[in-house]
Amino acid sequence: MYKQFPAMAFREESEDPRFRELLDMLLEQRRTNPERVRRLVEACLGEEMGERYGLSWSGKQKALREGLQPPTGRLVPVSEKSVRPERTENRIIEGDNLEVLKLLEPELSGQVKMIYIDPPYNTGHRYIYKDSWRERGSRGRHARETDGADAVDRRHAGWLNMMYPRLILASRLLRPDGMIFVSIDDHEVHRLRLLMDEVFGEERFLATIIWQKVYSPRMDARGFSADHDYILVYGGPEARVNRLPFRQNRSQFGKVDDAGRPYRRRSLRKEGSHSLRSDAPGFFFPLTAPDGTKVWPVKPDGTEGCWRWTREKYERELAAGNVEWVKGEKGWQPYAKQYMNPDATRPPTTIWMHREAGHNHEASEELAELLGPRVFDSPKPVRLIRRMLQIATTGEDDLVLDFFAGSGTTAQAVLEQNLEDGGKRRFILVQLPEPTGLDPFPTISDLTAERVRRVIRRMEEQGIGEEPGFRFERWCGDAP
Ligand SMILES: C[S@@+](CC[C@H](N)C(=O)[O-])C[C@H]1O[C@@H](n2cnc3c(N)ncnc32)[C@H](O)[C@@H]1O
Repeated sequence: MYKQFPAMAFREESEDPRFRELLDMLLEQRRTNPERVRRLVEACLGEEMGERYGLSWSGKQKALREGLQPPTGRLVPVSEKSVRPERTENRIIEGDNLEVLKLLEPELSGQVKMIYIDPPYNTGHRYIYKDSWRERGSRGRHARETDGADAVDRRHAGWLNMMYPRLILASRLLRPDGMIFVSIDDHEVHRLRLLMDEVFGEERFLATIIWQKVYSPRMDARGFSADHDYILVYGGPEARVNRLPFRQNRSQFGKVDDAGRPYRRRSLRKEGSHSLRSDAPGFFFPLTAPDGTKVWPVKPDGTEGCWRWTREKYERELAAGNVEWVKGEKGWQPYAKQYMNPDATRPPTTIWMHREAGHNHEASEELAELLGPRVFDSPKPVRLIRRMLQIATTGEDDLVLDFFAGSGTTAQAVLEQNLEDGGKRRFILVQLPEPTGLDPFPTISDLTAERVRRVIRRMEEQGIGEEPGFRFERWCGDAP
């Protein structure tokens, strides 16, 4: 039995009743990976289990328990706020994401292909939504010299206690080939990284992306003007990072073949690192030039180098017309012909400049176009989330979840990406009904739904897309 479910063995080994109890709570949810269960429980009780590496803060155990408690309440459909609810699997759910995620778990466990969240950053600023977990009078990110360890702990513990159970629930919804992207800035990035290592596993880390969120510095900044946010990316054990479309620069393809196709030449002799004969002895052999002479891969300074290809590959490419011999001052040299490729792709990089991924001002304009100016603080640009969709989803009917939905940018990104590539991705957004003080949308969840409604209406007016819709649901605390 222990072989089948090894976490049970850890339970037997432990004399700590709290360890046993937490394990029991986790093990009740049979789908949970036993190794992960052990890691979570050990990390949670870390302080009492002797000195060990990990992130510890006050309230951690309580937060884990909170995440493991059974769900309360239920989700109630609200038809008058929905659009074509009978014909869609898109959902906007109003409520606290902790309760909503618990309610979604039985239905969506292991089903979600991509999660994007943009949680409050704990900046201490006054936004339309709560963005501070610190005590009154605390001076934001900058610790006071008089602050003791307790005050520093309290400043971050509230935020960690909020994030921890939600990330645990999120990890259970992710497909084995799924990916989670989390936006954050310097206030909490280092704590979030450790937290995600703990919840998802250090080995599941894929990247920390730097996104250039502004196109010019803030001239009124005191000290540094922050140009970027971070996006932490973790993936399931089978996650695959899709390559991105890549437009090659026409000016780099200065040659044209007989069929009129642009190409460029690349030396067949390897250059740069690992380009010596001793690095690849099998790639040191003579090739026959057009005048019958033998040419060896020798560098201009006389050092023995190596070819890029095996002899077999050279013969194949030569026969296919992809090799060009050029006679220079030092004799004949072979080159590979590289053709321009309209479908070229490249791996995503870890620095996303505003020109390709959008910026904060663009995001505010996109929202203003739909709902009017200044209705929401710090939305993200649609292009930013579309880039994540390109990297993590395949364009089939992948499910995309955003449980800190804000103004609903993720829904717009999904709808627009589907429009572009014919995908049938579905979205689930979760948003708390925090009051906005704005007449047309009294709560943020009203605003979320209204944005998505207007995106859909705009598509209808333009006669594009397949008439998408969404079901609006509300978390309701009373018994059914
Ligand atoms: C930074 S904003 C997200 C902005 C969003 N990415 C966009 O482009 O508009 C964070 C959002 O999370 C919401 N939120 C905070 N705590 C929540 C909770 N417990 N459940 C659901 N939503 C929550 C806030 O109301 C806020 O709208």
